[in-house]
Order: sequence, then C-alpha cells, then structure tokens
Amino acid sequence: MLNIRSIDPAALDLAKKADKDGIETVWDRYEKQQPQCGFGSLGLCCRHCIQGPCRIDPFGKGPEKGICGATADVIVARNLLRQVAAGAAAHVDHAYEAVEALKLAAEGKIDYPIADINKLKAIATGLGIETESKEPNVLALEVVQVAYEDMGNHQKRPMRWVSAHAPKQRLEVWESLGILPRNPDREIREAMHQTTMGMDADPVNLVLATAKQGLVDGYGGLKLATDMQDILFGTPAPVVTEANLGVLKEDYVNLIVHGHVPLLSEKIVQWAKTLSPEAEAVGAKGVQVAGICCSGNEVLMRQGVPLATNYLAQELAIVTGAVDTMVVDVQCIMPSLGQIASCYHTELITTMPIVKIPGATHIPFTLEHADEAAQEIVRKAIAAYARRDPNKVHIPDYRAKIMAGFSVEAIVGALSKLDADQPLKPLVDNIVNGNIVGVVATVGCNNVKVAQDIFHVEMVKELLKNNVLVVATGCSAHALAKAGMMNSEGAEKYAGESLKVVLTAIGEAAGLGAPLPPVLHMGSCVDNSRIGDLVTALAGYLGVDTAALPVAASAPEPQHEKALSIGTWAVTMGFTTHLGVVPPVLGSKQVTELLTAGLTDVIGGKFYVETDPQTAAHGLIEDICKKRKALGLDQ
Ligand code: SF4
Ligand code: FE2
Repeated sequence: MLNIRSIDPAALDLAKKADKDGIETVWDRYEKQQPQCGFGSLGLCCRHCIQGPCRIDPFGKGPEKGICGATADVIVARNLLRQVAAGAAAHVDHAYEAVEALKLAAEGKIDYPIADINKLKAIATGLGIETESKEPNVLALEVVQVAYEDMGNHQKRPMRWVSAHAPKQRLEVWESLGILPRNPDREIREAMHQTTMGMDADPVNLVLATAKQGLVDGYGGLKLATDMQDILFGTPAPVVTEANLGVLKEDYVNLIVHGHVPLLSEKIVQWAKTLSPEAEAVGAKGVQVAGICCSGNEVLMRQGVPLATNYLAQELAIVTGAVDTMVVDVQCIMPSLGQIASCYHTELITTMPIVKIPGATHIPFTLEHADEAAQEIVRKAIAAYARRDPNKVHIPDYRAKIMAGFSVEAIVGALSKLDADQPLKPLVDNIVNGNIVGVVATVGCNNVKVAQDIFHVEMVKELLKNNVLVVATGCSAHALAKAGMMNSEGAEKYAGESLKVVLTAIGEAAGLGAPLPPVLHMGSCVDNSRIGDLVTALAGYLGVDTAALPVAASAPEPQHEKALSIGTWAVTMGFTTHLGVVPPVLGSKQVTELLTAGLTDVIGGKFYVETDPQTAAHGLIEDICKKRKALGLDQ
C-alpha cells in the first residue's frame, strides 16, 4: 500500500471505507502493477509494427535498435508524437460536437439556446465577419461555417481559428518552423501516418510535428470548444459554491455528472431543478447535482453547481453510498466504475456511443433528444434514491467555500472597476511594480503516482507566498478549490503581502467586500484557452511576445495524453511548462534535450520536469524572474 493515497481528508476517509467494504480502487491496482515496465516508462518500447514489439536497452548492454533500425531517439519521439496527437484528437472531437450543436441550435433544429450574443459577436468580429444588423442565428451560422471550413480545409492555409486568435509574433514563429496547422483532422491523421513503421526517422522533425499537434490542440480543440460553449451556454461570471464530497446530501437525490462535454450536463442541471417535485414525492428534499472532472467544472462555471471531487477520487464518490446516479460522457472515466457501482445502489449511466462500460446503463445522448435523455437520467436518479441503503452511506463532512467563474470577460469586468478605459492596466501595473511577481497557470489531472492533490497544493502554496498569482483549470482547479485556495480567506492565509494588497484592492473595487481568491478558477481543461486568451490580451496590451511575459504553466500531476497536448501547446506559446510527473521520454537523450532546452531557441518555451513541489515552485519563480529582468522590470 502506498504511504499516502491523498491529502484530501474526504478521499482518505473514503479510502478507508473502500478497504472496509472490500472495494478495489485505483491505488490497489497501482500497487499490483509494481514494478512498472522500465522500457515503457522510458518510452523505449515500440509496438508500431508486428515485427515488434521492440525495446531498446537503456543501459547499452542489449539491443540498440529496433528490428527495422529505429533508434531509441526515433522510438521515443514517435511515441510522444502519437500521445500528443491522441490528446489533441480528444479535444478536437469535443470541439467538433460543440460546433455541431451551435449549427443545429442556430437552425432551430434542437432545443439549445444561443445564450451569449455578445460573445458570438466578439468571435465573429475576430474572424473578420461583419456583425452589423445580423440576427444571432444568421451570425452563428457564419461562425459555424468558418469552423467547418477549418475542419474540412483542403488548402495549405492555416486554420483560421489559429490565424485569427493567436498572437502575431507567435504566428511568425510558428510559420517559420512550418508548424502552423491546417485542418486539425488532417494533422492528426498525418501524425498517425508519420509514426507508422517505415516513416519519419528524424527525431527533430518528429518533435516539431509534436509542437504542431500542440497548436492543433490549443486552437482546434481548446479554443474552438470554449468559444462554441460560451456562445451556447453563456460566458462564465463569478459564482459562489462549495467543493468536495461533503457537498453530497443525505436527504437529497445525489446525481453526479462526470466527464468533459457540457452538452448533456447543462440539460441535466436544468431538468434536476424542473423535476425536483418528483424527488420530493419519493421523500427527498430535491435533487443535488455535483460534478467530477471537467463536466463538473463546466456546470460549476456557468451554473454554480458544486464540485464533488477530481479524477483520482471518482471511485470514492460511489463509495459514499450516497450517489444515486453517476452519469458520464467522455474522457477520464475509470472503467472500474461499473464494478464499483454494482457494490452499491448507484446507477452508472453512460451516454456516448464511444464510451460504453459493462455494468452501466446506456442512455444514448443525441443533440436532438437531449431533453428526453436528461429527463430519463434525472428520473433514474430519483428511482435509485429509493434503493439507497442507509447503512452503507457515509458522506465525509468536508467542503470548502469557493468562488469560480473567472472567464477573461469576468476578470476584465472586475479590473474595469479600477480602470474602466484600460481594464488590463491595473493588472499590468501591479506586475510591473512587482506586487505581482508573475502568473502561473496550474492545469491538468491527478496521477496515482503522486498522493492526490499534494503537488498542486504544495507548489501553489509556495507560489502564492512568493506573490505569484495563480490561475487554474481542470483537476488542478478542483484540488486547489478543495484546499481552500479559491475563497477570500485563502487570500488572507496563502497570499504573500504584496499579492494580498492587489487581491484586496480588486476584491473591494468589484464589490466583494473581501479580497479576490488567490487562485482564480478559469474552468475546465478546454478552458485553458481562456488562459491563452488572457495572455494574448496581456501581450497585445504591452506590445510584446507572449514568450516574453512573466508567465509560466504547470501540470503538477499530469495523467492523460490531453495533459501532454495542452502542455505542448503551452510550450508553443513560449511558456516554460512544468510537469510534476516524468513523461515517457527519458529513454532518448536527444528528445529529452530538445523538449527541455533545445526547443527554447526556436520556440521560446520549454518543458521543465521536476518532481518536488517546492523545487518546482522555485524553478518557475526563477524562470519568471528571468523574464522580468529581460523586460527591464527588475534592474
Ligand atoms: Fe520494432 Fe521498428 Fe516495428 Fe517499432 S516499427 S516494432 S522498432 S520493427
Ligand atoms: Fe479535464
């Protein structure tokens, strides 16, 4: 057994219950996997053709090449490119669904709103579309057309979602490297082709292709998905709620939404309210919806739905015995949930044609019948409530108050209370005068190799103490929310003196009557695009390249291929991008060197791997200070 499975008291409490209930969890399975394959860990195993698998001896005593002649450098670079392309594919697929939804909504064929006309206009304007006197649905269809043209682009031209939204200086860098993506599907296909047996054997070319996948992810995945979702459901504004498993309620029907795409979860939130009387009719006080992973973040940001927990404790949510239904869509869903749900009364519901889990009930989600599916799911939860066994229920009494909903628009809105004409000025002034040393974006997952949340929390404590403002998304945001870093008290407790002064000034001006939280929750994993938009705006305001900004990124506990693709995008934006878990690349000196140093000369950013939270925080601060110096801020 691992010494510490988590630092989240609710998870620790439930891990004990899981042991008592005889439930096997992710930590047990991790233990059974020990020792993990050394070749795989180093990226030195190739299964790209069926002459293999081939593996390279990292100690130089065994084979130095695969059967085809592929070296360690080639094998590692090919494996990485495939992983990053897979991460990008997940986000592009997500974005594509959101584009389809906007199209059908604009045509009046589905019962979805176009909630944010201002955002629609802003995006249309950014794409060079005339907005004057056009009906929202007409404008939406024109925006959709550009998105579809990007998806089906047969030309050599780059995606318009990239050329319209990326910083100018970055576009020049990417163009000079030949990594501007065309149609995202084509780029992902090409990466698959490029890495098959007998194809690219140049590690440098493969690493550049990986950087291109980062851009596919950043713009064809993250940015496109967020833009579409904001138009459909609204751009987030500050909301106040709670985080951690203590948000489940013994006397309510508890329905958890888990996964990533808000197209269904938005409907569930709506129907949970409407069907509340049916819950009351079976003796419950109502329906409590709570979220896991990014479906949770999405409905938190726009609807103020509380967060249940993050990736690593998804099984433990069911172990509470109080979850009547867990509905999942895509990504980060453990296949073990089916088995665990069968030990309690929980009804696990899958909804997507590409995510089916034995033991789960499958209720197909389609845009055309979303309301029916959502109603059926809420009713199943109400029915399951009646089957709940009170003897098995244990809801750990932990929850932290949180403020979330910090879209760029919300941040600019708060700052405009200080300077209505130039809202970014107060932020920039405080960066220039050193009250805010810099900004770090913490993103990504939990990883079972790290005690749940410890890296997020310990590293961020150190950053805040040193007056670094932190913005967060994904499961990192969950971790920091649970740890009490997303409320005003968190500013008092964790922020360094000068950061506290700024947070207090903004909080007072924005009418909170208290400081802004020291960690700003900017949303789901696709909402990393909001961080991209913020740094693009900051760079534009200052007239510098994003690579010059005192800004860094970190995925403290990365687990998914998506974390690698998001991280690669952050590197292409010119940021030092920290990873707290070593990715499978150390088998190649050349690839490791390119990723952690060699790329910097050409792209400005680099990966920084450090497995100790304190050291990582100081490494990032050092990087930020170098950038401050280069900008002439601290002479
Ligand atoms: Fe081995 Fe080359 Fe086939 Fe990979 S592509 S499995 S290294 S022969
Ligand atoms: Fe996520």
